Amino acid sequence: MKRNKRVMRRSLIAIAAISLTLATACSKPSAGEVEKERPAALGGAAQETQASAESKGHSDPEGELGEGQAADDTLVSLVNKKHPLDKAYVPEDLVPVDVPTVLDNPEVNQLRKEAAAALSKMFDAASEDGVKLYARSGYRSYKTQEALFASYSAREGEEAANRYSARAGQSEHQTGLAMDVTSESVSFQLDEAFGETTEGRWLAEHAHEYGFIIRYPQGKEDITGYIYEPWHVRFLGVRLAASVYESGLTYEEFVGEGIE
Ligand code: DAL
Ligand code: ZN
Repeated sequence: MKRNKRVMRRSLIAIAAISLTLATACSKPSAGEVEKERPAALGGAAQETQASAESKGHSDPEGELGEGQAADDTLVSLVNKKHPLDKAYVPEDLVPVDVPTVLDNPEVNQLRKEAAAALSKMFDAASEDGVKLYARSGYRSYKTQEALFASYSAREGEEAANRYSARAGQSEHQTGLAMDVTSESVSFQLDEAFGETTEGRWLAEHAHEYGFIIRYPQGKEDITGYIYEPWHVRFLGVRLAASVYESGLTYEEFVGEGIE
């Protein structure tokens, strides 16, 4: 069992490195609209733009990664301040999400195909439990992230901004595998208080069942590089997400990497 976990972590580190190397492509920016990514407690707004693109995959010889992950290792890439994406990376299988959304912005209402399907399943399950979730911000192009970060930095300085917003290339949103989830109970904002709402608690308890993890847990800023974000979920596939959830570790710890 322990050996299997060690093998799995070694595989993930190798896969993350391979995936990042492969993450190159062409982007086609076009006009976007204003999106508010900054936590409501801190307030903020910035520009967004759109793009399209490419991703590549590798096999999973250990068979450890779970359903849907054998053909495409970019689905498990570790993306953070230490492991950025290429400026030109755009996933090739972005699709519009089929769940209630907050923003009238086609770019951010997209995810990669598998993540979008999993999001629908998760939102349907929440709804069956009487919990109404909303998708606020999914895929963001390099240029969109650049504009967001510039806006926050201009207001508060880079260091403060980088505690809650990723620099361009360092955001999981560019992978098309991350979604910010919110609810009416927090006025559809990205607010730390979401974690204490019925919706936020449901998400924390059930996200892994649908292949997502809460990527930036409370008290882990020194490891993940970001403050608590109870709204930001990252798709990893059901099997891996469940393992990360059960481990109680951040994704950095799980794959044996920190941000330093
Ligand atoms: N808010 C997260 C860290 C991002 O900007 O990707
Ligand atoms: Zn997010």
